[in-house]
Amino acid sequence: MIKVAILTISDKCSAGEREDESGKIIDEMIQEIGAKKVYYDVIPDDFEKIKEVLYNISEKGIADLILTTGGTGFAPRDVTPEATMSVIEKEAPGLVELIRWETVKITPQASLSRARAGIRKSTLIVNLPGSPRAVKECLGVILHVLPHGIDILKGTITEH
Ligand code: MTE
Repeated sequence: MIKVAILTISDKCSAGEREDESGKIIDEMIQEIGAKKVYYDVIPDDFEKIKEVLYNISEKGIADLILTTGGTGFAPRDVTPEATMSVIEKEAPGLVELIRWETVKITPQASLSRARAGIRKSTLIVNLPGSPRAVKECLGVILHVLPHGIDILKGTITEH
């Protein structure tokens, strides 16, 4: 069973000014691949805070997969990709390339997300944009690729 940490990164949601619909969507969607939410938090668009949470989850091996939502755009406070890059040891560019390749066909605005993906220790971290619609579209593209990648990452599969 894949253990998933859902991290919603939003000043508005963390201040209680907006409901976190995107986190709920992620929780529903991961059930399709038999994955389970083991961690959930809503934090502001703060580089040090995001870095700290990503570091702690991957360091303690709490989750196999961290899905972040929000903070990937061009706004001055959008720093999720930078915080992600500061903790990962290896990039996993194919996942975000696939997301952009597929979802730009739905809306050219998909090109406005600076989302990154990578690995720290045995945890895969994938950034998703913030809007509920974007989360559905983007996670939908990679959802069924994730189990095999996580199996390889954890060493449960060594041959193909
Ligand atoms: N990707 C998809 N598939 N669908 C969308 O509607 N919205 C875009 C983009 N990615 C969108 C998308 C928009 S409008 C922005 S500004 C960026 O994601 C960044 O969003 P974020 O800052 O909430 O992460």
